[in-house]
Amino acid sequence: MSGPIQVVLAGASGRTGREVGRAILSADDMTLAGAIGNTQVGMRLDSLWPGQSGDLEITAALPWVEGNPVVLVDFTEPKSSYSRVLEAIDRGWHVVVGTTGFTSTERQSIRDRVQERGVGAALIANFSLGAWLIERLVEEAARYFSEAELVEAHHPHKKDRPSGTAKRLAERLAHQWGRDLEQIPVHAIRLPGMVAHQEVLFGAPGQVLTIRHDVHDRSAYTEGVLRGIRRIEGFAGQLIEDPGPIMMD
Ligand SMILES: NC(=O)c1ccc[n+]([C@@H]2O[C@H](COP(=O)([O-])OP(=O)(O)OC[C@H]3O[C@@H](n4cnc5c(N)ncnc54)[C@H](OP(=O)(O)O)[C@@H]3O)[C@@H](O)[C@H]2O)c1
Repeated sequence: MSGPIQVVLAGASGRTGREVGRAILSADDMTLAGAIGNTQVGMRLDSLWPGQSGDLEITAALPWVEGNPVVLVDFTEPKSSYSRVLEAIDRGWHVVVGTTGFTSTERQSIRDRVQERGVGAALIANFSLGAWLIERLVEEAARYFSEAELVEAHHPHKKDRPSGTAKRLAERLAHQWGRDLEQIPVHAIRLPGMVAHQEVLFGAPGQVLTIRHDVHDRSAYTEGVLRGIRRIEGFAGQLIEDPGPIMMD
């Protein structure tokens, strides 16, 4: 990629978007070229993110950004995100999406659209290092255990349930064991004091193995998102949902 990567951030006023936005502003190789929101339209970023020099205003729609490459980063909610992501792809932008709750039909449409347009898309349910590693550890444990249940716990404002991360872990287990997804129980807890927590309990006679990951604050996601922004051009024509290609050096 030549020159700074131009990033348009949707969800800039949100809990995760704020952390991601600050990280983008601090990165030398990227420029924040636009910020999208819903109820905070017209607000300047420096008033939303105290101590930061971002002088953009939040807009309701994708801004016009000249130049190449442009990456849409989206941490919003699935309905508006789906149409925004398709619009960005149609403009020839790459997309790095953290928003969870897309249907399998929507994921397939995004896959088809990136193939047509030759841009890269990442739909990653969890950008934290620990979430990527927990998948690998769970796959290893599933080679030896044959029964597991998942428990995920999040803050009460989370809109989807169970979490995208828990669904992904359940899909992995179902695939590995050749079972239907419904046969892998997932328990979802929504409580104040929680941020994002995933636990997989493997049971066998006389023993339980617990693999657990806790996110205590949203800075856990920023390094993975920055890696996604830097690498997405290398996945032209592909939709990646596995964080491996982004996280691995
Ligand atoms: N992949 C990951 O690693 C990861 C990590 C954390 C969260 N997430 C996901 O990211 C998403 C956001 O989570 P959050 O906790 O940050 O949520 P949040 O605090 O509720 O923030 C939501 C953001 O979306 C914006 N928004 C809502 N509706 C919109 C619309 N119709 N058009 C444009 N913008 C809209 C909001 O703007 P206003 O403030 O203007 O309403 C706000 O900026 C969720 O899907 C969550 O599951 C993913």
